[in-house]
Amino acid sequence: MSDDCICQFVIFGATGDLASRKLLPALYHLQCAGQLPEPLQITAFARRPWDDTGWREFLMEQLDNFAGPMNEEHFNAFAQRFHYLQGELHDPEAYAELARRLTKEGAGRPDRAIIYLAIRPVDFLTVVSRLSAAGFDRDGDYRIVIEKPFGTDLESAIQLNEQIHRHFREEQIYRIDHYLGKEIVQNLLVFRFANLPIESVWNRNHIDHVQITVAEELGVESRAAYYDEAGALRDMVQNHLMQILTLVAMEPPPSLEADALRDEKVKVLRSIRPISRNAIHAHAIRAQYGPGMIGNDHVPGYADEPGVAPSSVTETFAAVKFFIDNWRWRGVPFYLRTGKRMPHKLSSVSIRFRHTPQALFRATPIERIEPNWILLSLEPESLKVELQIKEPGLEIRTRTTQLNASYRKDGERELDAYEALLLDVLEGDKALFIRFDEVEWAWRVVDPILKAWSQESDYIITYPSGSWGPDESTRIFDKEDQSWRNQL
Ligand code: BG6
Repeated sequence: MSDDCICQFVIFGATGDLASRKLLPALYHLQCAGQLPEPLQITAFARRPWDDTGWREFLMEQLDNFAGPMNEEHFNAFAQRFHYLQGELHDPEAYAELARRLTKEGAGRPDRAIIYLAIRPVDFLTVVSRLSAAGFDRDGDYRIVIEKPFGTDLESAIQLNEQIHRHFREEQIYRIDHYLGKEIVQNLLVFRFANLPIESVWNRNHIDHVQITVAEELGVESRAAYYDEAGALRDMVQNHLMQILTLVAMEPPPSLEADALRDEKVKVLRSIRPISRNAIHAHAIRAQYGPGMIGNDHVPGYADEPGVAPSSVTETFAAVKFFIDNWRWRGVPFYLRTGKRMPHKLSSVSIRFRHTPQALFRATPIERIEPNWILLSLEPESLKVELQIKEPGLEIRTRTTQLNASYRKDGERELDAYEALLLDVLEGDKALFIRFDEVEWAWRVVDPILKAWSQESDYIITYPSGSWGPDESTRIFDKEDQSWRNQL
């Protein structure tokens, strides 16, 4: 880390769910690993009427809950970095106080700072405009980290972007999608572009279809206020799943430089075939979890969760089929699926190859040759290639075996996505952050589905909690021999 590092970090929404679960544990782990710049000071901005001591107690509690085993020495050093600032998001005086605290004596403006908006998307604009009025503006070295979802549809995203650009330059804006910080997602690039045999079969001549699944055991938890407005398509598909899709489908970029990578991702998004109004039913399906069992526990349905209106038709499950109309992918369906309250956590990319062309084994007991798969699991991490081999014995029969290309050895620490991305913000590296045209094109792709679903406001099919979603989700498959891959 250079001496010239940014020394101020400000967290808006410091007592919120995101800060507790992800941000504070990630910063703490970086502290333990000696990765935070020595002079880094952190301002926690929130509403609760606390002083630094009250904040530190809260910090301790959250880290205890979410950061794994604690080390007293590291915790003390970490807690020393924090200062609490009580304020309302809309109150200009709170920002003036922030600016005072961050301005060195004699300096004309607040010190360079990373400002993390771990707040509800509806508040982004308020904070951004108040910050700029208080002197954290487009002329200084301020890095504004904005969480997803960026806007609620295409139009609102464009507006939000224009309004933010009135106060900050694009270079100052870090739109975060934490899936890009997952190491195995980056491993996808290495797997594709560092292995000659792989890249040469990565196209429509060999691949039958691609499945991208993010299944969660969790329900809506305490986030109904946000989630009931958003739903699975906005919460997961428009961002995390579409980002994975771009990395699976993109052409090799000329370099790993931020814009080179992002240019290729945008080309993929622009090549996705728009779904027409009357094709929505064949391309997309939504559903909501009903009551059911997760492991041995009985859990309520979504409509009975605290904060959710009993008549809500918000989807907690979405499955969508896209086609990418370019030379590499034309005709290959990409099936994206996400859901809450599914049997277990599964984030995966499953790539199914075509059947072999020759019926060489017709005269043997083999009834059908299973196709090959490449199976990449983000959680738990693994990378496997599924092949057919001969079963030992006199007859010709086949069995499926897996080559395991998982890369983490026992004891090698898994870097949390937020840790990796926070280090990138500190270094000013934007390769794993989202450029606005990516957001825009991803909205263009999902917008027709959102519009169609918003008109079906009186009914949504349900699936039992603890299942893999509604049976109807298979209706988006193109061929009878395609089915969801739930086991890797
Ligand atoms: C967030 C969504 O972006 O990602 C949540 O808002 C979801 O609804 C979470 O639970 C999943 O992230 P991960 O890293 O646990 O797969």
